[in-house]
Amino acid sequence: MQRFNACKLLALCALTAALGVMASCDTSADPADGGDSATTQSDDPKAAIRAFKDKYAGDRYAKEDRPIHALAQSGADYVNSMRGSYACTSCHTIGPGSGNITGPKLTDVADRYLKVFGDDATRTRIWLHNKISNVNEFPGMNTAKYSKGLMPVMHESYQPMEIEAIVEYLMSLAK
Ligand code: HEC
Repeated sequence: MQRFNACKLLALCALTAALGVMASCDTSADPADGGDSATTQSDDPKAAIRAFKDKYAGDRYAKEDRPIHALAQSGADYVNSMRGSYACTSCHTIGPGSGNITGPKLTDVADRYLKVFGDDATRTRIWLHNKISNVNEFPGMNTAKYSKGLMPVMHESYQPMEIEAIVEYLMSLAK
């Protein structure tokens, strides 16, 4: 008997709830408001997107704060570690205040080639990959300033994925 009563009670509750929903549909309340009284609704979708960004994204996507991608992080490790007789940083400086040494500085190399390729990031990545793999086959904007044959052919000592990581690291330095 107790079970029957519980069922009856449940049915009654469901009915009350349904009536409640119907009643609320009759009011002019905006269902998109989600009951959050702090949200101000606007007809302007751009304003809504801005409000969303302010509330949830804020400055998190500002370039200075962007997190370094894991692949780029390993690239940063590769440029500093020795392969054979050299590390990339034996001949190139990378970082603030860097200058040209045995090879051109690489801090701005992605930016320089992004300009050459009209901001096409894919072509810039491909070019950097080719250049690092085999410096002699892909003359660049600085080739004429340096004696030939200084930079080793890197695809002999780095896996393609490692060169890809280095490219990502260099791309992450672009402004
Ligand atoms: C023994 C010296 C030496 C080492 C080691 C070396 N490079 Fe170079 N690199 C050079 C020289 C010299 C040039 C200029 C020749 C050219 O651009 O054709 C150059 C050019 C470059 C360029 C083109 C720069 C531009 O402004 O066009 C990139 C990119 C580059 N190197 C990346 C690397 C990376 C990444 C490594 C490590 C994997 C590395 N290099 C190791 C000497 C070196």
